Amino acid sequence: MTAQKTILRALAGETLPTPPIWMMRQAGRYLPEYKATRAQAGDFLSLCYNPDLAAEVTLQPIRRYGFDAAILFADILLVPQALGADLWFVTGEGPRLSTITSQGDFDKLKPAAAIHDHLSPVYETVKILSRELPDETTLIGFAGAPWTVATYMIAGQGTPDQGPAHALKAENTPLFEAVLDRITQATIHYLSAQIDAGAEVVKLFDSWAGSLKDDDFINYSIKPMAQITAALKAKHPDTPIIAFPRGAGERYAGTHAAIGADCIAIDDGVDAAWAAANVQTGGCVQGNLKSSHMVTGGDDLIAETRRICQALSKGPHIFNLGHGITPDADPDNVQLMIETVRGG
Ligand code: CP3
Repeated sequence: MTAQKTILRALAGETLPTPPIWMMRQAGRYLPEYKATRAQAGDFLSLCYNPDLAAEVTLQPIRRYGFDAAILFADILLVPQALGADLWFVTGEGPRLSTITSQGDFDKLKPAAAIHDHLSPVYETVKILSRELPDETTLIGFAGAPWTVATYMIAGQGTPDQGPAHALKAENTPLFEAVLDRITQATIHYLSAQIDAGAEVVKLFDSWAGSLKDDDFINYSIKPMAQITAALKAKHPDTPIIAFPRGAGERYAGTHAAIGADCIAIDDGVDAAWAAANVQTGGCVQGNLKSSHMVTGGDDLIAETRRICQALSKGPHIFNLGHGITPDADPDNVQLMIETVRGG
């Protein structure tokens, strides 16, 4: 089968004259149409579990901008909830979950294979999208990487330094590793089901990889992602995988091979020219414009977008931000970024 869609061509290792483009959090609060649909759903989680509305918000940025990929609308914290954690979102603050600090808390979790009933609305969203997306648009499924998901499950919320997860890792390593392993197994089931439902690519978000030092980075960020990648490749050899060990810095070098991923997403903490020499040698690179340009716009946005495209033009590249777009972004700046990537 020849990959025709631009995202799939880049993921297969092709160097394209114009990099395909999508954007992390492209369905989000910077878009008035997203806010309207979210209000219709009631709250964020109701939106995630309503297949028609979740598909609608996934399609909104495709209609408005014609991105080359759509990312399934869901959240990385649906997996802990499917494993039995309580989950809710506090407006203006972020997610809250029941915590895991003891063996007793862990023993209450469901087995990894038991997640599907809870997550079946997500699979339904994927099915709707694979019917409704334009022919040229690639559908990306996703999950959180085990370490990042564990940081939320252990702490019960987002934390600036992932302190509670680091503490459990130091104080009760077997329990910490059991939590990671449960998430790893559940993620294999979850992404495999997304692929069965029609996801053409899957992405692993390890948003907090950067806080792992030395061997911990290898053992708890890279290795669980490698395990998931190997299991998915065994079952779905033709489905490309993007891995995002955010904050890895110089440790991005060699991550394609270490994880077994087709593409490595880089954040804006590394320079695109450095990534061309040290990361793109391993395969496709995705990234890495600073999200703040979506707020400030102007000549800086244009210059920086051109510089990144130029730096990564000698190998396979998918243009993206270095992290998700923020709610204060101006939708016109997204248009300007796309025009700059496509028009020079
Ligand atoms: O990229 C996309 O458009 C796809 C959908 C998506 C969401 N979250 C929707 C969302 C994806 C891929 C995620 C990933 C996610 N979720 C991550 C990893 C990526 C990253 O940003 O580092 C993390 C850590 C989460 C957990 C999470 N979800 C937090 C910490 C928050 C609150 C922060 C905030 O922006 O309010 C969320 C909520 C969330 N997930 C929103 C969206 C659009 C905002 C919710 C709203 O509409 O109020």
